[in-house]
Amino acid sequence: MSGDIHKRVRELSDELHNHIYRYHVLNNPIITDAEYDRLFRELQDLEAEHPQHALPDSPTQRVGSDLSGDFPKARHPAPILSLSNAFDEADLVNWEERNLRLLSEDAKLQYVLQPKLDGLAIVISYENGVLTRAATRGNGEFGDDVSANVKTIRSVPLRIPVNSDRGAPPSRLVVRGEILFHKESFQALKREREARNREREARGMKPLQAYVNARNTASGSLKQKDSRETAKRKLTAYIYAIVDSDGVELGSEWETLRYLRDMGFNVITDAAHCQDLDDVRRRLDAWEARRDDLPFEIDGLVLKVDSLAQARELGVVGKDPRGAIAYKFPAEEATTKLVGITIGVGRTGKVTPTAQLAPVFIGGVTVSNASLHNYEQVSALDIRQGDRVIVKRSGDVIPYVIGPVAGARDGSETQITPPESCPFCETKLRQPAGAVDWFCPNPKCRERVMRTLEFFVSRGAMDIEGMGPQTIAALIENELIEDEADIFYLTAEPLLALEGFAEKKVENLLASIEGAKARPFEQMLTSLGIDGVGSTVAALLTDKFASAQDLLDTAKGVEAAEEAFAATVEALLEDERASGADVEKLVYRLNHPLTELVPRYLDASDLSERLARLLKPLALSEAEVAAIAASLSPLIAASKPLHSIEGLGPVLVENIVEWFTDEHNKRVLEKMLEAGVNMRAEEKDVAGSGLEGKTFVLTGAMSVPRGEIKALVEAHGGKVTGSVSKKTSYVVAGDAPGSKVDKALKNKVPVISEAELRALISG
Ligand code: IVH
Repeated sequence: MSGDIHKRVRELSDELHNHIYRYHVLNNPIITDAEYDRLFRELQDLEAEHPQHALPDSPTQRVGSDLSGDFPKARHPAPILSLSNAFDEADLVNWEERNLRLLSEDAKLQYVLQPKLDGLAIVISYENGVLTRAATRGNGEFGDDVSANVKTIRSVPLRIPVNSDRGAPPSRLVVRGEILFHKESFQALKREREARNREREARGMKPLQAYVNARNTASGSLKQKDSRETAKRKLTAYIYAIVDSDGVELGSEWETLRYLRDMGFNVITDAAHCQDLDDVRRRLDAWEARRDDLPFEIDGLVLKVDSLAQARELGVVGKDPRGAIAYKFPAEEATTKLVGITIGVGRTGKVTPTAQLAPVFIGGVTVSNASLHNYEQVSALDIRQGDRVIVKRSGDVIPYVIGPVAGARDGSETQITPPESCPFCETKLRQPAGAVDWFCPNPKCRERVMRTLEFFVSRGAMDIEGMGPQTIAALIENELIEDEADIFYLTAEPLLALEGFAEKKVENLLASIEGAKARPFEQMLTSLGIDGVGSTVAALLTDKFASAQDLLDTAKGVEAAEEAFAATVEALLEDERASGADVEKLVYRLNHPLTELVPRYLDASDLSERLARLLKPLALSEAEVAAIAASLSPLIAASKPLHSIEGLGPVLVENIVEWFTDEHNKRVLEKMLEAGVNMRAEEKDVAGSGLEGKTFVLTGAMSVPRGEIKALVEAHGGKVTGSVSKKTSYVVAGDAPGSKVDKALKNKVPVISEAELRALISG
């Protein structure tokens, strides 16, 4: 027993020493901060329980160091302390109780609560208002002098007070803060490097290491030997404490924050002043919920005793002041081994790799698989099979792999490449030009059909009850259905022959299918699973297109015009006359007119002139430009109904056209139409076409002669008849209407006023 404890203490010590070295010296950690904390705490607890086993060189006895050897050393004017951690509210309560025991009996504690920024500590000195030195925390006593680098960070004032209205500067002020990347800046930097690596790869050069973690990248950026490199990265500094000063009299943390802000430092704006610990506790959940919405990463909150006198009285234990504590959020990141990859194929045919992980506990949940997004991302981040990887799980987002821990490789890792063919139907995979994803192009791929059907019948789509994934699988297996339309041709007999399909079940299923035929057109459109067409876009479409036939016709027109345009362009560009990057871009545009040209010229009255200007680098003759314009015009006209819908981008327009011109899709639609599935918009939804398809009966006295009203209705596509029937859309009632109103009510025909009719006309 005692031997076991001794062994574990030794193990933990060794492991922690190694991680400290990797983190602070090599700048190449292989576990997350939270994992480090967990090991550290285990050791701390063991040592507290069994002090006889504590080692003299235990990592708990020393302050970590980030000294790197590349910079002159700077001695801090006072020890740069660290914080002890609380992991739950009970830890906070214990912490307060301990503090109260150390203070006089009637002491009351107020607090300042602020986010714990996940960056690296910096200590900046000002003499008579001028920045004289900036140093990393180092070992708490000495740090690396990184003044030149810190001076490139715009949020660090070079002179204080920044606003000279604030009076004279203190003769000396040493502040402490945190340097970090805003999430947005880090993502931009990451993308930049990924793009650069793609270029390098194209030129056969070795890729540079991808940026994985904001904090390590910030640390690396701050420790550049050439400050011009630091200047290129968009680092930010937040200042939260005074380490030392001459001529500054402050009584509390709260005042300190205000003073720092007045001096012109970048200070977190949403620190809270709390009356007591209950006040603090009430705010914890809200802070945690906000975590993902903040512009920077935080790994918890810092809670400080507000009164500086009380904090002084509480003193320091080891390297931690008693008057402050870090309240750590559950970790969102952990490292684990990537043991394998599974491949999924979605309804659009998109192939998605999923990482199979050695199970790891993150934020209260065991995670054993995580998204890898796509193969392009896998290669950009150089994630390999067998790698130790960092996995993130935050909020409701599906856990995903952030990147590999390159430093933990042992050489046995292997490259991950996309499969050549679909693992389900063996069709060769395709990667459309410019896309990051690979696709299975086979619309009959069983996996794709499964996903398509599952989506088609799901709630919010066609909403067919009793048709879960298992039923769909059984129906496909038994060759009762092959596509969405087949669902509407199912009959009782073959269903009853299936295992587990009792009479009642079949009856319910068929009733539910029958009901689905009458779903509103826009819901039916959403169910088709056209890439980018969710319920919002579907509603936009049905506002403009009254039926599936209208969409089919429009798409067909666009396709024909596209083909004609392509023929024109091909003939003209046969022989290359010029070259260069802008020529390449223009050729690309000419080859993708629907997304690249039409949107710019939708309402152009001077199409030829504008095209001539755009195409100048191609050195075409006037007649050639005119020919292009002449064949672009019909494409503009044909696609305008789609392009002119606000909220429908060019790529979406292209998707829609592609979907409605695809032979397989057309057949499915046709079959559904024949089965009686509703493919018409409700008439009131049809804006623009006015009263088309509607029948009116007029009764009573109107503001103008009835003949005029009749003409008005007809001018907007409506019909006026003399008697009310079930086919009547509306009865328009003026003053003293006749029996037609009664008849309308009996037939459930809506009765409207003249004003409502006019409103209907003006949409
Ligand atoms: S106060 C003596 N406030 O967290 C207390 N620290 O785990 C000084 N940190 O080394 C720390 N945000 O680098 C304080 N708002 C904040 C902070 C913060 C991040 C860092 C700091 C410290 C580490 C302790």
